[in-house]
Amino acid sequence: MDRPALTIRTLSPGEIDEFFRVVEGAFLTDLRSDVLDLYRALIEPQRAHALLDGDTLVGGGAILSRDMTLPGAGPVPVAAVTAVGVAPDQRRRGALSTLMRTQLDGLHESGAEPVAALWASEGGIYGRFGYGTAARRARLAAPSGTAFRPGVDTSGSPVRLLDREQARPVMQRLHARIAPQRVGWISRPDAAWDEWLHDAEHSRRGASALRYLVAGEHGYAIFRAKEGGDERGPRFEIRVHELAAETPAAHAALWRFLLDVDLGAEVVHRNLAVDDPLPLLLADPRAAVQTVSDSLWIRLVDLDRALRARRYTAPCDLVLEVADALCPWNAGSWRLQVDSDGAARVQRSDAEPDLRCDIADLAAAYLGDTRFTALAAAARVVELRPGAVPAASRAFAGDTAPHCPEVF
Ligand SMILES: CC(C)(COP(=O)(O)OP(=O)(O)OC[C@H]1O[C@@H](n2cnc3c(N)ncnc32)[C@H](O)[C@@H]1OP(=O)(O)O)[C@@H](O)C(=O)NCCC(=O)NCCS
Repeated sequence: MDRPALTIRTLSPGEIDEFFRVVEGAFLTDLRSDVLDLYRALIEPQRAHALLDGDTLVGGGAILSRDMTLPGAGPVPVAAVTAVGVAPDQRRRGALSTLMRTQLDGLHESGAEPVAALWASEGGIYGRFGYGTAARRARLAAPSGTAFRPGVDTSGSPVRLLDREQARPVMQRLHARIAPQRVGWISRPDAAWDEWLHDAEHSRRGASALRYLVAGEHGYAIFRAKEGGDERGPRFEIRVHELAAETPAAHAALWRFLLDVDLGAEVVHRNLAVDDPLPLLLADPRAAVQTVSDSLWIRLVDLDRALRARRYTAPCDLVLEVADALCPWNAGSWRLQVDSDGAARVQRSDAEPDLRCDIADLAAAYLGDTRFTALAAAARVVELRPGAVPAASRAFAGDTAPHCPEVF
């Protein structure tokens, strides 16, 4: 017998606990009361959706109001999509499809954020909804003691170990200064800091509590130590939770400290910018082994507003023919004109298109990470006028690789 269709509506505040119980269940995780307290403070119920089978909540998803730093533009509001999950016995009934359509229609109709962003639990889920992989992260591992090149100066930024209460205001101040300079970084309100620094025993995976370092007034790092070792004695893996610095000296000083922690075996950072300068500081750059994977996925909700929200690194005048099955208001031809100041004009166009692509490909290029030349080589972007692909590549490329320090 056919099951009745699932329905969707905005979450009511009284359903928050049930919402998280179901979503955590979808991730095969037990919901703990300390974590639920954090989630309650983070969620904006009027921007969250419940998926229902009759009266039973079987899935959901939420939008958090955040700013993300866009190329050349500084922080701009984006819809940070989170807490997407469907109960294991309710899958493949169209719940996620309904949620995605509802979120995108809602953002478009209300004229809210022009861009949505998320971290994907699996790489195969979100492409069909027009999301593209817009930033990557590196897992970096370097043996403890790895030497710097001669001449790297760390003396101007003495590193101190602080307790959590002392460190937090310093870190918050620094983060607020650094985030607007780093493409892909998102704003971190107090409730998000609470979650980021949450340090319950069950979240440590056998490692120590978090330790906090500050380098003068210009950088901070957070790490744990996981014990290993053998008959020769204890040896620890130094697990970096975050390292943020606004000056080269603070960056180098923090890494030097982490590489030199007594009894360290290896320093591991699982979410580093792919262009983090650490390998360039090392006498043997191969000592730092990196594995790269996707991080942020971006969805252009309203193509014209989204393309105007960032700035560009080279002038261009291109007509883009865009396919968008889910958001028909984006489909069709658009003229993107970028002047020498990097600002864009975006208008509907009847002219012959220069490039053909899907909305997910534009999203992949949006933060400057994926190049149009690579998209064209993968036959995802079709060049209809010679020279259009390199022109788009130059315009969208950024000075730095986009990066998002935290999973939200
Ligand atoms: C991922 C998840 C939300 C999908 O929900 P769902 O309700 O089963 O999705 P839908 O029924 O709407 O599926 C829509 C389409 O996406 C496809 N799809 C769904 N999950 C997929 C996955 N994990 N990988 C690849 N394709 C997937 C479906 O096959 C379907 O394709 P079709 O339209 O061609 O038939 C759900 O499986 C889940 O909760 N997983 C565990 C938690 C999780 O990973 N959440 C995502 C957090 S970023």
